[in-house]
Amino acid sequence: MAGASVVACCSLVIMALMAAAAMAGSVPAVYVFGDSLADVGNNNHLLTLLKADFSHNGMDYAGGKATGRFSNGKNSADFLADKLGLATSPPYLALSSSSNANYVNGVSFASGGAGVSNATNKNQCITFDKQIEYYSGVYSSLARSLGQAQAATHLARSIFAITIGSNDIIHYAKANNAATPSQQQQYVAALIQSLSGQLQSLYNLGARKVLFLGTGPVGCTPSLREMSSAKVCNAVGNSMAVQYNKAAEGVLSGMAAKYTDLHYALFDSSAALLRYIDQPAEYGFVEAKAACCGLGDMNAKIACTPLSSYCANRSDHVFWDFYHPTEATAQKLTATAFDGSAPFIFPINVRQLSAI
Ligand SMILES: *[C@@H]1O[C@H](CO)[C@@H](O)[C@H](O)[C@H]1NC(C)=O
Ligand SMILES: *[C@@H]1O[C@H](CO)[C@@H](O)[C@H](O)[C@H]1NC(C)=O
Repeated sequence: MAGASVVACCSLVIMALMAAAAMAGSVPAVYVFGDSLADVGNNNHLLTLLKADFSHNGMDYAGGKATGRFSNGKNSADFLADKLGLATSPPYLALSSSSNANYVNGVSFASGGAGVSNATNKNQCITFDKQIEYYSGVYSSLARSLGQAQAATHLARSIFAITIGSNDIIHYAKANNAATPSQQQQYVAALIQSLSGQLQSLYNLGARKVLFLGTGPVGCTPSLREMSSAKVCNAVGNSMAVQYNKAAEGVLSGMAAKYTDLHYALFDSSAALLRYIDQPAEYGFVEAKAACCGLGDMNAKIACTPLSSYCANRSDHVFWDFYHPTEATAQKLTATAFDGSAPFIFPINVRQLSAI
């Protein structure tokens, strides 16, 4: 009896230790791709209009510093890293300038303005295709430093976080405010065709745990609301976001059916964020329409610059500037992606994805 309980006790301890080791060791790094929702400073290194390395950006970041994040504070890439117990993956363009760049702890290719299509903000950002090209170089560098097999294992355990599509849809909706459902479908289908090839390239280059952040309800960003006299959400933008997220899910589930070693979590940012916009008080928000920082009607006419006005309480605003969420919004959304469930994050959440 005593012997049995000793065995039971110790095997429980060992199991707990193994579980802890598995948790701690399951995600060694995050490789980040996408747009301004995840940019942590790549655009600081570009000659572009799409920058955020000046105030009032970063006013709630450590030291009140503008870092290039399009936010008053941290963004989703920061909160994802926090949740995984990792440091935020540094901007590729900051790392790559050093001769002994180390990519083992993750790197971010995300660049403000980027879209699925090369044409979106052409010459103003690192396009998604270019991000993948840079990553391909990182892949080779890891294979050289760790050895092919070791690099493959490392990457297979890492999370590939991708947030892309908003800029394509925003551009389209702004230029085609009266697009018919079939025109919308056509554009989304073209995006999805590109996205499918891009995700395949990442799989070919070792991605095995993909967190795909679908686009938010871009029609409700202050900039697109501002286009209507009643200041309502832009229907074209919102409907295309829904279609795009659904089709992206189709691409990923198709890939997962074909490649049994591919795991993914898809975050429906549109469904998740619409909750805050429809019922702000329920989620701790007071203002879900106007931007906190900017100028003009709803602070949505002009970007957040040092000359813009800003709101007193950034935690009660859903939107920081005319396109981007506040730190408070990013934090709440990331928490849902990490521990939430369908219809917001599926077929598994980020905690489950990281534990695989
Ligand atoms: C987009 O740009 C990449 C290079 O950055 C190129 O390889 C690719 O063919 C381009 N795609 C299209 C559709 O033009
Ligand atoms: C700011 O807003 C948050 C969220 O609504 C609220 O909890 C907090 O009390 C507000 N702070 C101040 C100083 O009003």
